[in-house]
Amino acid sequence: ESSTELDISAIQPGQAIKAVFRKQPVFVRNLTPAEIAEAGKVDPGSLRDPQTLEERTKEGKTNWLITMGVCTHLGCVPLGAGEGEVKGEFGGYFCPCHGSSYDTAARIRKGPAPKNLEVPPYEFTSDTVVKIG
Ligand code: FES
Repeated sequence: ESSTELDISAIQPGQAIKAVFRKQPVFVRNLTPAEIAEAGKVDPGSLRDPQTLEERTKEGKTNWLITMGVCTHLGCVPLGAGEGEVKGEFGGYFCPCHGSSYDTAARIRKGPAPKNLEVPPYEFTSDTVVKIG
């Protein structure tokens, strides 16, 4: 009951879905090579919450970005998973409550949120199934 198993095989590159983990939204995103490259261009030391995409994903599966869909400011659900092109100016997620923008690694880049979107504990149980929690 405390973990969530998801079949991710239908999530295309560039697409993100919203699921539920422990009654909270969780985003599963299949990053494109361009989005991965974009995340790598940033000097992590310049970030409010310094982390690399590699630190936020599993080895060999850097394209799978799995985060909570809970803004670290006051807990709204950011847009960008299932809202088409609404991704904010840094290409990841945008929180409409007070305008926090997250990048393609779901790192906070602009606005009041203090931290990156949280990466929950998860593991791949196969190439197409991920178990969160
Ligand atoms: Fe997201 Fe305030 S809750 S910016």
